[in-house]
Amino acid sequence: MNKLTIIKPDDWHLHLRDSPYLAAVVGDTAKQFGRAIVMPNLKPPITNCEEAESYRQRILSDLPVGSQFQPLMTLYLTNNTRVEDIALASLSHNILGAKLYPAGATTNSDAGVTHIQKIYPVLEAMQKHQFPLLIHGEATDNKVDIFDREKHFIDSTMQQIRNDFPELRIIFEHITTREAVDFVLAQDDDVAATITPHHLLINRNAMFEGGIRPHHYCLPIAKREEHRVALLNAATGHSGRFFAGTDSAPHSQTAKESACGCAGIYSAFCAIELYAEAFELAGDFSHFEAFMSLNGPKFYRLPVNTLQITIEKSEWQVPQTLDYPGGLLIPFKAGETLQWSIV
Ligand code: DOR
Ligand code: ZN
Repeated sequence: MNKLTIIKPDDWHLHLRDSPYLAAVVGDTAKQFGRAIVMPNLKPPITNCEEAESYRQRILSDLPVGSQFQPLMTLYLTNNTRVEDIALASLSHNILGAKLYPAGATTNSDAGVTHIQKIYPVLEAMQKHQFPLLIHGEATDNKVDIFDREKHFIDSTMQQIRNDFPELRIIFEHITTREAVDFVLAQDDDVAATITPHHLLINRNAMFEGGIRPHHYCLPIAKREEHRVALLNAATGHSGRFFAGTDSAPHSQTAKESACGCAGIYSAFCAIELYAEAFELAGDFSHFEAFMSLNGPKFYRLPVNTLQITIEKSEWQVPQTLDYPGGLLIPFKAGETLQWSIV
């Protein structure tokens, strides 16, 4: 198969940052996707409807002229999130869920939740209003090995949230392990997961290939090959509860190539081509459209996009660098050849 037409995809997990970085990256996503769920981990974070709406307006005003791209907003949960903010957000067509960052788990998560019990009234309200909970699922105790933090979170917290709020709608974000795949498969239709292109394409060796490779460092960190294979099987399989979420997370070249480099991989420049690369590895495109364009809207109870896109097998080279305010941005797979392009 050399050519494939599918319904235009959406990105169900994206970091766009704020001005001036926003304008440098939003066009890459808008060019490829109909909609994207925008992460709220700005500094300070987006914690209520008013902030989400004004961030949405900033995104819209930085879009390329004529773009129909729709940003879908999320709230950042803190220990102090109010039940009233959830009730209000659940009435908005532009705010689709709230994100749980365990405090200290990742970039700009300091204001996150310190103990899950602190937000039990909020989770109760989210369950009642059927307002989705997006979870960064990693344990934050730094005594837990970094490669075990997702599994640890499933056993310590995810299972507990499921038991205590059985009807809460949950998206387990950017899963990276076989255990997370198995967890999602064992749940009912209230639980889904996003999978990034990089976790489908690299394992943890990619961070240390001939030296330290900061552009392959993200959180959750890439795991062993057996986990990448489990993710690829989930993405290309028929479950219907796994979908594309790039977790594209821009940091300048200097912020990445540093003694303490930031976590995040910039995949928005060629996200669809990267997912196609992964499905090509699996040798099975039969669920490509479902994963890219159908499963996400189904879970979020939105219509699918009306436009279509076509990809074809035709080699091209990812640029070494992209422009970014105050420096450069290094895209995932910089300088490498990809097999699929968007027509
Ligand atoms: O690698 C990551 N980068 N993981 C996250 O959870 C956050 C993101 C960011 O905002 O840079
Ligand atoms: Zn993210």
